[in-house]
Amino acid sequence: MVSRKHISVQAPSNIAFVKYWGKTGRQYPINPSVSMTLKKCYTGCQISYCEGVDALSVDEFLFSGAKNEKFRKRIETYLHDIAQEMPMLNNLSLAIETENTFPHSAGIASSASAFAAIAYGLVHIEQELGIEAEQTIEQRASMLARLGSGSAGRSIAGPYTIWGDFTPEQSHNDFATEIKGIHPEFHQVKDAILLIDRQEKKVSSSAGHKLMENHPYRQARIEQAQDHTVRIIQAMRSGDWDCFGKILENDALALHSLMMTSDPSFILLAPNSLAVIARIRDFRETQNVPVYFTIDAGPNIHLIYPKSHEIQVEKFIEEELVSFCEDRKYIIDECGSGARILHA
Ligand code: PMV
Repeated sequence: MVSRKHISVQAPSNIAFVKYWGKTGRQYPINPSVSMTLKKCYTGCQISYCEGVDALSVDEFLFSGAKNEKFRKRIETYLHDIAQEMPMLNNLSLAIETENTFPHSAGIASSASAFAAIAYGLVHIEQELGIEAEQTIEQRASMLARLGSGSAGRSIAGPYTIWGDFTPEQSHNDFATEIKGIHPEFHQVKDAILLIDRQEKKVSSSAGHKLMENHPYRQARIEQAQDHTVRIIQAMRSGDWDCFGKILENDALALHSLMMTSDPSFILLAPNSLAVIARIRDFRETQNVPVYFTIDAGPNIHLIYPKSHEIQVEKFIEEELVSFCEDRKYIIDECGSGARILHA
């Protein structure tokens, strides 16, 4: 009997500072994006595998300890797709189990951490089987994760990554890379995620990316994202929270403006998202505290601030913002490192 081998992996979620919106070809972004890897919000993933079978199969997929046929099919389709890049998959039978440390559909990119964990695990299996690859483990895992969900490519390295061909940073479309030379001011950054509304997204990100194809602001957005990328990295290297925060907020609002002005148009912000934004700006100005917001593809608001101001910001959240959150729920996270193997 052929024995099964096991590997256990962990990969974090990430929050984009400059957003990826719009793709071409084999899941390549139309603009560069910049993100922060989280610490507490991650996917744990166990993969057991058996070699030498005739065709790729995912025999079982457990999500949070329960069978999930919808996810099993999605993962199987993904694995068939990436078998082009990773031929060993054609002869593996796999059983995969994942669990997230954060609520499903909380507007925190669960597909990013899940695909990153699976891709990272697969690259290690490839190594265990003695298969050589041209890229480094991180590059290869990011490339494969990207093919599952674009933003997943940014969940392999950390704490800060860039993805998308962009000459000034020598970054790549195929995989994300770590941004080096970050100022100590940005070594300990927190992300408080206010769960404004935990309903499923009304529009999938794939449908949203597609609407960028004929968007009237497409070219302007590409140029804006490039400009934001240069300036936000410069701010993170020089320790300039003021400049960083302006770009952060502007880029999040640009993402939502693109959604609102696409055809068909859609609005993912909720009235409470806007109420919270107004209070954050007011608190920042009156209290002189460097706290800024960003927003992913949903109504939830992420507060980004230096750990050195955590007491003031977290008191402000408790006193003034929790009443805008569904069931008064929020998650406090911070920047972390990338994916890792727990045991192999
Ligand atoms: O990774 P996808 O295809 O789900 O796209 C994610 C896009 C945003 O989350 C809205 C922005 C980003 O860069 O993470």
